[in-house]
Amino acid sequence: MLNFNYNIPTKIFFGRNKIEVLAREIKNYGNKVLFVYGGRSIKRNGLYNKITNILNENNINFWELGGVDPNPRLSSVKSGIKLCRENKIELILAVGGGSTIDCAKVIGAGYYYDGDAWDIVMDSRKIKKVLPIASVLTLAATGSEMDSGAVITNMETNEKIATIHDGMAPKFSILDPTYTFSVPKNQTAAGVADIMSHIFEVYFSNTKEAYLQNRMGEALLKTCINYGKKAIDCPENYEARSNLMWTASLAINGLLSYGKETEWSVHAMEHELSAFYDITHGVGLAILTPYWMEYALNGFTVDKFVEYGVNVWGLDANDEKYEIAHNAIRKTREYFNLLGMPSSLKEVEIDDEKLEKMAKQATIRGKLGNFKVLEAEDVLNIYKSAL
Ligand code: NZQ
Ligand code: ZN
Repeated sequence: MLNFNYNIPTKIFFGRNKIEVLAREIKNYGNKVLFVYGGRSIKRNGLYNKITNILNENNINFWELGGVDPNPRLSSVKSGIKLCRENKIELILAVGGGSTIDCAKVIGAGYYYDGDAWDIVMDSRKIKKVLPIASVLTLAATGSEMDSGAVITNMETNEKIATIHDGMAPKFSILDPTYTFSVPKNQTAAGVADIMSHIFEVYFSNTKEAYLQNRMGEALLKTCINYGKKAIDCPENYEARSNLMWTASLAINGLLSYGKETEWSVHAMEHELSAFYDITHGVGLAILTPYWMEYALNGFTVDKFVEYGVNVWGLDANDEKYEIAHNAIRKTREYFNLLGMPSSLKEVEIDDEKLEKMAKQATIRGKLGNFKVLEAEDVLNIYKSAL
């Protein structure tokens, strides 16, 4: 196992009605809040009214930044920074999915940065300080509610870039699974694919002795497999929604990656798809993952795929190694299909026009991955196989 520093600072309030702690927790940081949210989903499911009532009843002053898009834009970040500065905001409260929370994080970092906010996305070393962030999560997927990363899209340049800073980890997050009852089937499926991909990105690793992290990763994968379809078929199944919600947070908060070399190449490849075509993150991951797995499968990596096939999919350990590996990959694809996810780029209207450009951009900061190192040409091969 590699050396690591454990640091997961976010306080989690998990379960039905945990929103009751909201006012008390906010007051630990001040009395002036920027309330950030996405489209109309929180107005439709009643959460908007609930939150504004709590803020009003507790004499908490708040300003609103609504309309944060999926694949959150730099323009929303800039509007948020302006509001924070004009009103001397003391805490940013994001209510929504990963896009809303990510946007809030970079607003918080941009508040203390004098230059263009895009600078701190491109180079997180420029982040020195961050306004306190808190979240009320409404979609189980990204883990942004408990990690220190954020992904922002610059529509003018077709760039979607991840930035990371300890200060961006939410001070507290409220995880009430009932808030995810209204998530539509396609977003539920995309969320499950995203959670599984976060686990794959750290599970498929060159670090061989991380036995504990690998078994935890398998447990989380099995939880996704067990509950993903159930949540789609029965959106108000609390057991399914709560297991998925907690799995999403644990998949990327550091527990699985501490002590391991990690991969993140499917994410880098997917971010180009959403940057150029504005597709849903989890959909892009579901398409690319099995193609990446086939591409990564070789004499050095086959044992890891066998471990995956046997421990996660219950395949017979006595079968021939490559047979197990290919079957495990096939089962991964079949599971995504069962959730209603597409299997090819064509199905999301992506053709070969920009593949070369995207492959170059995906590797602009250097080769991807460690388990299977990818250069631009490899990325292009994977994109082509996914057509
Ligand atoms: O905008 P609203 O109206 O709220 O609707 C959203 C949006 O259309 C809807 N939704 C969310 N909660 C709902 C709901 N609809 C009904 N009921 C609810 N309870 O779902 C749609 C998608 O929301 P979004 O926030 O975009 O989804 P997600 O949580 O998957 O976030 C995706 C973004 O996070 C980034 C992705 O790249 C993408 O930009 N990621 C962030 C990461 C991080 N911070 O660590 C890691 C991830 O790998 C990922 O890259
Ligand atoms: Zn992701």
